[in-house]
Amino acid sequence: MAKLRSVKGMNDVLPEDAARWHRLESTFRELVGRYGFGEVRTPLVEPTELFVRSIGEATDIVEKEMYTFDDRGGESLTLRPEGTASAARAWLQHSVGNQQPVTKWFYMGTMYRRERPAKGRYREFRQAGCEIYGDPGPFVDAELIDLVVRYLRALGIQDIEVLINSLGAGETRDRYREALLDYLRPHASELSEDSQRRLERNPLRVLDSKAKQDQAIAENAPQILDYLDEESATHFEELKAALEAMGTPYVVEPRLVRGLDYYTRTLFEVRGRGGDLGANAALCGGGRYDDMVAELGGPSTPAIGFAIGLDRLLLVMAEGTPKPSLDGFLIVRSKELRTKALAIAQQLRDAGCRIDADLRGGSMKSQFRRADKSSAPFALVLAEAEAEAGTLQVKELATGEQNELPVDQVADAILRG
Ligand code: HAM
Repeated sequence: MAKLRSVKGMNDVLPEDAARWHRLESTFRELVGRYGFGEVRTPLVEPTELFVRSIGEATDIVEKEMYTFDDRGGESLTLRPEGTASAARAWLQHSVGNQQPVTKWFYMGTMYRRERPAKGRYREFRQAGCEIYGDPGPFVDAELIDLVVRYLRALGIQDIEVLINSLGAGETRDRYREALLDYLRPHASELSEDSQRRLERNPLRVLDSKAKQDQAIAENAPQILDYLDEESATHFEELKAALEAMGTPYVVEPRLVRGLDYYTRTLFEVRGRGGDLGANAALCGGGRYDDMVAELGGPSTPAIGFAIGLDRLLLVMAEGTPKPSLDGFLIVRSKELRTKALAIAQQLRDAGCRIDADLRGGSMKSQFRRADKSSAPFALVLAEAEAEAGTLQVKELATGEQNELPVDQVADAILRG
């Protein structure tokens, strides 16, 4: 029988790696908490139509990367490929806009895209993101971009580039679309198959294409910043000024369009330059999507957000010294003392210590071997004499130093280190 393995591009996180994940997650939670973001948790599965309508039909995600299936009732469902559409759906469904003028939400969780797996590109991956509804910017745009930079710095990730662009509002998009089409049509036959197919429906996608022949043509395409309506141009100028005032580094990249159709005005991407991931990998993407809520059937509501690819951060983050996951390892001299040992272990855990013990009844030597292999700095030895006296031998494994202490003083001693 073939060996059972996890689905291609979907990875397990084992306990030895979990500590690094916790660091990513707790640093994010702590930071966004300081800005007043509340956590939203939405289902992993949504009606397919939600993603088709928001992300856009002529995008890579919707055309070829979604995990879509019919449930037993015949409804088409999709594993979420991203968090923005689900958050907007939840915000609308619960009429949150009626209760507060501005909503600040964050989320963390797994997303699903059937991409070609590679280093830093998986079919199940984890994102941490923020979404804000009800604030048209541009100051909140700058604050969000700055938040991402601060988060990365808190993790020791310094070698980054922040790219920004503006896609303008409705009319800009239409005028630019026409100009881009006029430029691209004569080159149509040189474009990749995907781009040829999407050309008339969604010419902006050509700028975002990974195909070499498309990139060569995109190089000389007209730039959207030359087509901005006045309000969008002012918005972009104010955004840049706000970033400068905060000392947030950025580079204007007029060719940045990104792979989702819902963006308007501010668009940004943070790329990492170092580590295992190779140059220019996108660590975070975000932008304004002022039309999405209305397109999903709600009132016209400005919105902006970002999502960070946590799997990619792990690849660029410095290792750091792992914290021990135990405070003490309890060693029991004889089988008869195991019930007593259970009670002592519980007493220490109740006092806040992280305790493991080997209660299989093996030799002292084998128990010490396990204690040495564990991350516990102390071995706590229970033999007949100690059981009688209500004490434990507390041995510091790194130095071999040993003290006998009453059980109720052990927690204090090992927590102090
Ligand atoms: P996105 O650019 O599609 O944007 O994804 C954001 C980040 O998720 C990427 O920069 C990357 O780090 C990570 N990512 C994407 N695909 C994969 C993958 N297959 N494997 C590993 N990591 C991946 C969004 O998802 C938008 N929802 C961002 C947003 C929020 N815009 C407004 N609000």
